[in-house]
Amino acid sequence: MASTVIKNWDNKTWLSSNDYIKSFNKFLFKNIKLNPNSEILDIGCGRGKILGTIKSSLKLKVKPTGIDVINHKDKDKRINFKKSDATSFFLTSKKKFDLILIKQTIHLLTFKKIKRLLFLCKKNLKHNGKIFILTLDGKKNELPTFRKMKIRLNKSLKRDNKVLKLITRLYPQRKRKNFIYKVKINKKKYLTMIENKYISILLPLSKNEILEGIEEINYKYKNYIQFRDKLDCFIL
Ligand SMILES: C[S@@+](CC[C@H](N)C(=O)[O-])C[C@H]1O[C@@H](n2cnc3c(N)ncnc32)[C@H](O)[C@@H]1O
Repeated sequence: MASTVIKNWDNKTWLSSNDYIKSFNKFLFKNIKLNPNSEILDIGCGRGKILGTIKSSLKLKVKPTGIDVINHKDKDKRINFKKSDATSFFLTSKKKFDLILIKQTIHLLTFKKIKRLLFLCKKNLKHNGKIFILTLDGKKNELPTFRKMKIRLNKSLKRDNKVLKLITRLYPQRKRKNFIYKVKINKKKYLTMIENKYISILLPLSKNEILEGIEEINYKYKNYIQFRDKLDCFIL
């Protein structure tokens, strides 16, 4: 899928801020017991800052593995990065993991690929190992949007809902949790994120559609934008 090249998701946004990562990792550690011997894999790791921070806070003995189809120049040095597609990684790796993280990445895969990926992840878990899958919350999503972005977001959330149903059908024992992060962002900064097409739903929009969207958000919000970034988390 050529249109799924996301370059600016964690490029100096709240999603790569120390506070967000600290809060996300706190959520993880509350839901899975990890220790310095834990082996961790992040599928669709982006710049790998979440994984790098886990390495430091748990003092992991083995560098955690992060895979992504994009090899960012400014990725975190504390991780063992492999430029790879989600499923192809398992063709060459024989490692087993205590935690496999798939955060805000599964929606970019076809249903066939999701099934295959989850099968492979399950096979490559250690005893008591867990898979954490996180997607945008589909119910009362608060992400600041403009009209065309909202239409695309709703469509994407509907598909996510189907993905979550598929996962529940395949793995009925899955647990469900929520991760909520309160964002307060300077409007200018958010507009730059929109301009940089930080989220996949913006990728197909034309330059003009983005400019119209920027005007709409500029008009709709004051200098600071506040909302809750809410994620659904499935634990398998
Ligand atoms: C929305 S970002 C999420 C990044 C990171 N997990 C986070 O939550 O901050 C989605 C990431 O998945 C990567 N990606 C997309 N398709 C992929 C695939 N087939 N295999 C591995 N990574 C993929 C993208 O390049 C991007 O870095």
